[in-house]
Amino acid sequence: MNERFISIEGIGKRFPKKGGGSTTVFDDLWLPIARGTFTCVIGHSGCGKTTVLNILAGLDTPSEGAVIVDNQAIEGPSLDRAVIFQSHALLPWRTVMGNVAYAVASKWRWNKAQVRAHAQRFIDLVGLTGSEGKHPAELSGGMKQRVGIARALSIEPKILLMDEPFSALDALTRGTLQDEVRRICRDTGQTAFMITHDVDEAIYLADRIVLMTNGPQAVLAEVVENPLPADRTRADVHRHPLYYGVRNHIIDFLVTRSRSYDAAAKASLDRRNLAVVRPGLPTIAAAAEAPLARFVGSEVAIS
Ligand SMILES: Nc1ncnc2c1ncn2[C@@H]1O[C@H](COP(=O)(O)OP(=O)(O)OP(=O)(O)O)[C@@H](O)[C@H]1O
Ligand SMILES: [Mg+2]
Repeated sequence: MNERFISIEGIGKRFPKKGGGSTTVFDDLWLPIARGTFTCVIGHSGCGKTTVLNILAGLDTPSEGAVIVDNQAIEGPSLDRAVIFQSHALLPWRTVMGNVAYAVASKWRWNKAQVRAHAQRFIDLVGLTGSEGKHPAELSGGMKQRVGIARALSIEPKILLMDEPFSALDALTRGTLQDEVRRICRDTGQTAFMITHDVDEAIYLADRIVLMTNGPQAVLAEVVENPLPADRTRADVHRHPLYYGVRNHIIDFLVTRSRSYDAAAKASLDRRNLAVVRPGLPTIAAAAEAPLARFVGSEVAIS
């Protein structure tokens, strides 16, 4: 596996302040991402997550640093990287088929029948068979989001970028779409990078969960490696003995640690080699289970 399929290398972002000077949203972020993995970023509102994702998408440029994808520096948007936005951003005058086919035709110079056949595969994949001829105004929020997912996947991107793609949906639809995205990513070996506020969503979907501190001058504090088995399902994920250990670790970060990174704590971080932790069993369970006692303290550094 190529450990640096995506490499975020020392990126920073500054915005000009009213009245002069500038605000540093974040600086000196480093993160390697392996091919075929699912990464989630969690952090409080305003810390700079969307800005990072936009830089990965090539929709924004960093004030310093670079992002390398498959050995090439990102220099603007590319069909190698597809984005699923929170607001699906569909073309309202095109049908479901029209929206997906438009993306397919922008990637490959195929005839109309080839484009439609390819688009149909992805419309089927997200469960919209039969709705090909509908316009976005005739679709529910969940259906629109499915079109956005089909459109993003249909161009077979090297990276799937998602910015809180399910946050506007009801719980039932959100769950179904999480299942679909997870199944598709696993079946196709898709490399995915997703922003979410939802800790359970991150634990269900991600292989690695990156914790970002509050801004300004936000930093990536650590990478949580998901200890749950790869064959987890949404129905059983919360029954796994390690589930609450991971969940508590992330919530503890969001509630307390994300706010407490002062200049000294930031200075002591090894930003190029972020700590990777694999939260273990909650202390009580670990204490009862002698062979697992090494997990006491609820986390184990694995690199
Ligand atoms: N064009 C801009 N000009 C000035 N400041 C900006 C601009 N875009 C973003 N910011 C600021 O940068 C910071 C990070 O914004 P960003 O949208 O990346 O946050 P976020 O982590 O995605 O937040 P949320 O979770 O609420 O979506 C915010 O403080 C925001 O006000
Ligand atoms: Mg955002």
